[in-house]
Amino acid sequence: MGIRNGIDFREADAAPAREARGGAARDTASTALEIDDLTVAYNSRPAIWDIDLRVPEGVLMAIIGPNGAGKSTLIKAALKLIPRAAGTVQFYGQPYEQVRGLVGYVPQRGSVDWDFPTTVLDVVTMGLYGRLGWMRRPGQKEQAAAMHALEQVGMQDLAERQISQLSGGQQQRTFLARALVQDARIYLMDEPFAAVDAVTERAIITILRELLARGKTVVVVHHDLQTAAEYFDWVTLLNVEVVASGPIAETFTADNLRQTYGGRVAYLEDAQRIAGREEL
Ligand SMILES: Nc1ncnc2c1ncn2[C@@H]1O[C@H](COP(=O)(O)OP(=O)(O)OP(=O)(O)O)[C@@H](O)[C@H]1O
Ligand SMILES: [Mg+2]
Repeated sequence: MGIRNGIDFREADAAPAREARGGAARDTASTALEIDDLTVAYNSRPAIWDIDLRVPEGVLMAIIGPNGAGKSTLIKAALKLIPRAAGTVQFYGQPYEQVRGLVGYVPQRGSVDWDFPTTVLDVVTMGLYGRLGWMRRPGQKEQAAAMHALEQVGMQDLAERQISQLSGGQQQRTFLARALVQDARIYLMDEPFAAVDAVTERAIITILRELLARGKTVVVVHHDLQTAAEYFDWVTLLNVEVVASGPIAETFTADNLRQTYGGRVAYLEDAQRIAGREEL
């Protein structure tokens, strides 16, 4: 296939076949996020290739795929944090710039400078800036909202602590609180369960379910195949391309997982245990 538009497509062409895509989306439901023909490249190498994805409003969706599959890239490109080589992304039928305040983002923990001298409360309050505008200083009302979000994630006692002095799980909860305070309509979370203990994981999933009960749409990059079917009702399997996307019962199949992970046997064994319905 070679080089097109300065991008080397050879690797992408070797990725899982497009016809394997699932996508039994509920056509009647309204669409929270629609991605068409999205390609992103780093140094002329595509990290995600020709992504078509529709996320119906009101689902709790996992994005699942191996390390380097392009999960973070997909989220960052949707939020215009990195440039796109091609494609369009719409939230509620509009480009991101028009609906910024409706979209909450929890970045992957390792991608953030935690030595930055600021407190937990300040980081959470920053989640409100989209609504306040940069010129306004947060007042008592905003601080109270931030404290409430910290209570939701069990971090109220650490509000004044420097973020450099948090454990990994506490950092994760801080980011979750920052997204919660924003009161978005759709949340994109990049591995919120990484580096948290079992109790925190339960607390986070409870919060996600509450968001869902309030009609929000939540998209979560997730690594643990064992909990995927329990936690999520929708899934997108990604490996540079979308392998399949749709309701978890139809999409989270051994066949689709094998296509997503290739020869990664450990993952497949996990998947078999969970799926419990198909021979791998
Ligand atoms: N800033 C960058 N410059 C160059 N290559 C990058 C950059 N960011 C990511 N990549 C590459 O793009 C590919 C996709 O990376 P991405 O971070 O999106 O993967 P991921 O699915 O989120 O992986 P993980 O599960 O490890 O978080 C990887 O091969 C990665 O090395
Ligand atoms: Mg990532």
